[in-house]
Amino acid sequence: MEQVLQIGQNLEIAIENLLNDELVAIPTETVYGLAGNALSELAVCRIYEAKNRPSYDPLIIHVDSIQKIENYSINFPSEARELAEKFWPGPLTLLLPKRSIVSDWVTAGNDLVAIRIPNHPITLQLLSKLPFPLAAPSANPFGYISPTKPEHVQKQLGDKVSYILDGGECKIGLESTIVGFDSDGVPVIYRLGGISVEQIEAVVGQVRIRPNQSSNPKAPGMLKSHYAPRTPIQLVDIAEWLQTHPERNHFALLSFQKYYPLIPLSKQRVLSPQGDVNEAARNLFSYLRELDELEVDIIFAELVPNIGLGKAINDRLIRAAAK
Ligand code: TXA
Ligand code: MG
Repeated sequence: MEQVLQIGQNLEIAIENLLNDELVAIPTETVYGLAGNALSELAVCRIYEAKNRPSYDPLIIHVDSIQKIENYSINFPSEARELAEKFWPGPLTLLLPKRSIVSDWVTAGNDLVAIRIPNHPITLQLLSKLPFPLAAPSANPFGYISPTKPEHVQKQLGDKVSYILDGGECKIGLESTIVGFDSDGVPVIYRLGGISVEQIEAVVGQVRIRPNQSSNPKAPGMLKSHYAPRTPIQLVDIAEWLQTHPERNHFALLSFQKYYPLIPLSKQRVLSPQGDVNEAARNLFSYLRELDELEVDIIFAELVPNIGLGKAINDRLIRAAAK
């Protein structure tokens, strides 16, 4: 793209580019999205191309109001509506039966379309002014860590977007929780994310959790290896590991709560010194990027407590460490 890259908060520029089938990076409460007109085949193709994303990996579409859902879904079951009313705008994506206006390119041939209302003021404003929904995967090259700051997008996809709408740092820091429904109406979590299992179960009772473990073409966000830095990452008990491998050089640490005094501060990141999983979620992706940029041989990381958003953090760490 010859255009000079611009970052800012100018909605007019964002709108004009989107009307022309160009891509615009948009802030959400979860991660930055690489957005294009969801009803334009050209814009949707550009998204896949910019991310180097396989065409079998479907996209989430974003709208600004519950009323608009029925334009894109033929049916809004009551279990889904209950979750939508409780958590939208917010980090929840629902899988609903698609209308034909949503092309197979967006859903990768699936009869269900993934839809959400993101919770970010400037993006909600943008969506309210557009005559179409925005298809937006996370604004990172396929398989890499999702961006939580505008600089992350600029660095990796700067030449692929015509504008970056600056909404500051993402408040949640993990992608949305993806929920579908079995034929008996019971909700199924396909991707752990920014709304915890506990929060969802408080509304609809027990859910099924079915994050795919292998290369399931239906939900590649669930690929075993994903969200990965370029530097290898290994999950260990950090304290124990440091004791047994004192000679090891050129590594970095990603811990939950504790600093390790014998290791240079520049080589460690602590997700939440206060031990708060929400704070840890907010820091996870940007800390992984920072450690990745140190050019160490390996990053040693530890799992966090498996409660609330801790489950989704651990899911991402395990996938980042998978080969
Ligand atoms: O928080 C988020 O959801 C962010 C922001 C930008 O909204 N978006 C995001 O998109 O994480 P992406 O493309 O990186 O991940 C979307 C995931 C993929 O794993 C995809 O396979 C799954 O959603 N997905 C999308 N449409 C689907 C469908 N129709 N059926 C099953 N899975 C679907
Ligand atoms: Mg993604």
